Amino acid sequence: MNASTYRASIEGPERPMVRFSGVTKRYGELTVLDGLDLDVSAGEMVTIIGPSGSGKTTVLRVLMTLENIDDGIIYVDGQPLTHMQKAGTLVPADARHLREMRAQIGMCFQHFNLFPHMTALGNCMEGPVYSLGMSKTEARERAVELLDMVGLADKRDHYPSQLSGGQQQRVAIARALAMRPKIMLFDEVTSALDPEVIGEVTNVIRKLVEEYKLTMLMVTHQMGFAKDISDRVCFFYGGKIEEQAPPEELFADPQRARTQQFLSAVKAAI
Ligand SMILES: Nc1ncnc2c1ncn2[C@@H]1O[C@H](COP(=O)(O)OP(=O)(O)OP(=O)(O)O)[C@@H](O)[C@H]1O
Ligand SMILES: [Mg+2]
Repeated sequence: MNASTYRASIEGPERPMVRFSGVTKRYGELTVLDGLDLDVSAGEMVTIIGPSGSGKTTVLRVLMTLENIDDGIIYVDGQPLTHMQKAGTLVPADARHLREMRAQIGMCFQHFNLFPHMTALGNCMEGPVYSLGMSKTEARERAVELLDMVGLADKRDHYPSQLSGGQQQRVAIARALAMRPKIMLFDEVTSALDPEVIGEVTNVIRKLVEEYKLTMLMVTHQMGFAKDISDRVCFFYGGKIEEQAPPEELFADPQRARTQQFLSAVKAAI
């Protein structure tokens, strides 16, 4: 890639919070993201749906800088994520730049991976104290607030093993929010949960959309939830966006044959 051909930053009121511009990711011979273009505006909730292996998780992983990209560029809040400006050109980012950029993004996965030896409160304080250098008092206040927000005020002194799956996932969301990210990523956060507790978690995400107006990118297999909550739904196929539209349009009147096939297969499975 000739990095200098890309603009070093995106300015102006229309600047997206996240921009994927021609992003390609390969694993050996396999092209997993294929020149992906995707913008997410500040405060927007974008849901990614699509068949297994279409690159949904990879989109979130490259945005978290957990994976390198092979071509293209990703901007977060106008700044290049994996590159930085040096002498008027873009060069690959150093560790410090990556750390600063990564700090703007929070992520929750299917498996919550809480610290087992820490209480719910401890889990939510760890990052702010040790990564952000926040005082313990401030981190505690913030953690208490967030656990309250996710409906777990009475469980703050419980260890993960003393919490249900839905409760653990809510602690994981509170823990990610404790780092004050600008952007939250969710990857199938309800997939490992028993059906009766899924609503606890989706309600928290709903709250983040309605009250907190966080910028969010969510991968889900729950079409009903996607339809309900998203500003826009992107149907992924072969590492690209095959079709994207507001949910009421995409689910009611998909234009592309692959989207139609996928949605009718999903419907048949319910
Ligand atoms: N570390 C890796 N090494 C090699 N191939 C990988 C690696 N990670 C992912 N892949 C491949 O990349 C493709 C896309 O994977 P990804 O996890 O993004 O799919 P997905 O759309 O999230 O699927 P699912 O719905 O099953 O979670 C798959 O074919 C996968 O096997
Ligand atoms: Mg996945």
